[in-house]
Amino acid sequence: MDLVFLNLGFVYLRGVKKVQEIVAQEMFSKADLIRLLEAEGDDRQLLFEAAQAKKLEVVGKKVFFRGLVEFSNICSKDCLYCGIRKSNEKVVRYEASDDEILAACHFAWENHFGSVVLQSGELSSPVFINRVDRLVKSIKRLSNDELGITLSCGEQKPETYQRWFESGAHRYLLRIESSNADLYYKIHPNNPLHSFDKRLECLSSLKECGYQVGTGVMIGLPFQETGHLAEDLLFLKKLDVDMVGMGPYIEHEDTPLYAYRRQLASKQGRFDLALKMIAALRLLMPDINIAAATALQAIDPVGREKALKIGANVIMPNLTPCDFRKEYQLYEDKPCLDEDAELCRNCLEARIEMAGSEIGYGEWGDSKHFKGRTAQN
Ligand code: 5AD
Ligand code: FES
Repeated sequence: MDLVFLNLGFVYLRGVKKVQEIVAQEMFSKADLIRLLEAEGDDRQLLFEAAQAKKLEVVGKKVFFRGLVEFSNICSKDCLYCGIRKSNEKVVRYEASDDEILAACHFAWENHFGSVVLQSGELSSPVFINRVDRLVKSIKRLSNDELGITLSCGEQKPETYQRWFESGAHRYLLRIESSNADLYYKIHPNNPLHSFDKRLECLSSLKECGYQVGTGVMIGLPFQETGHLAEDLLFLKKLDVDMVGMGPYIEHEDTPLYAYRRQLASKQGRFDLALKMIAALRLLMPDINIAAATALQAIDPVGREKALKIGANVIMPNLTPCDFRKEYQLYEDKPCLDEDAELCRNCLEARIEMAGSEIGYGEWGDSKHFKGRTAQN
């Protein structure tokens, strides 16, 4: 509660901390984070400046590339927000061939990207598991063990995660989407295939295997309040993750959540909130890797660069073969639908330099946090 005392005609506000005080702290309460996420005008600027300074101080001005290969849009799940959900019959399903995937990874290697991310819809068949395993080994081989490999292939059994890890994958992305179980079930079907607890178990099993673990949330979801987002930030801190990717929720007309589009903040509002989440996270977890999510660019053409400026340090240029890109539309207005990899690289280079950053070519760019976490064990 804000306490207002009248004293000799002056009004003192007590109980409301100033943004200036909060950004100088090292620990943050839920109330502090809410204050940061609601900052406007000069306060918002203070938040961005503090996050930018923290980023430069702790992780420097290098930005790392992860070449993203969305190798299949076949998915067994039905998340209520996602354009490639199983029940969306409008999507033409594809599976890139091994040769196509390896050619994209070869491009990444030749261009000194450092790492690739293999992402797909979620499947758990032995054929799928063997295929990913084979791909990981081939990518290691084609790059003389130089390319770092991140997988983003959903929930799997611990033994599958272990197998992929032993074959050479060393990072895994699995977003929690929302750390609040009630909200989670508002955006996912409430059934065992979409269990919140299972998602948590997967995140801890990934960590046990030795992966650098990345997770994240969507920002501006229907039913989501600022308090949920502040709790999400504290969740990320508690889970002690190494990497975070989070971006604005963007409605897709062929999904059930589209029915709630009128409840949403404007796209610009969601974009702005996503930037504040990134800035607040940089203050809360200074040494992790934070990705400038592609969804930012679906709202603002220079959205990812804005995120790099105020806290993010990883970007995922899309290397998916162009023919497949239009079928990997998780949300509306997904950018770079027809830019080939070469164009994408040139365009990104220019944009990143404009944002005052420098590209860490040829480096894995592991999170400092992971190095610190593993050195202690
Ligand atoms: N809007 C924004 N992000 C989305 N994702 C899926 N659907 C949407 C959407 N409609 C994100 C999810 C998922 C990641 C691969 O893409 O967070 O984990
Ligand atoms: Fe494919 Fe959510 S719809 S994992």
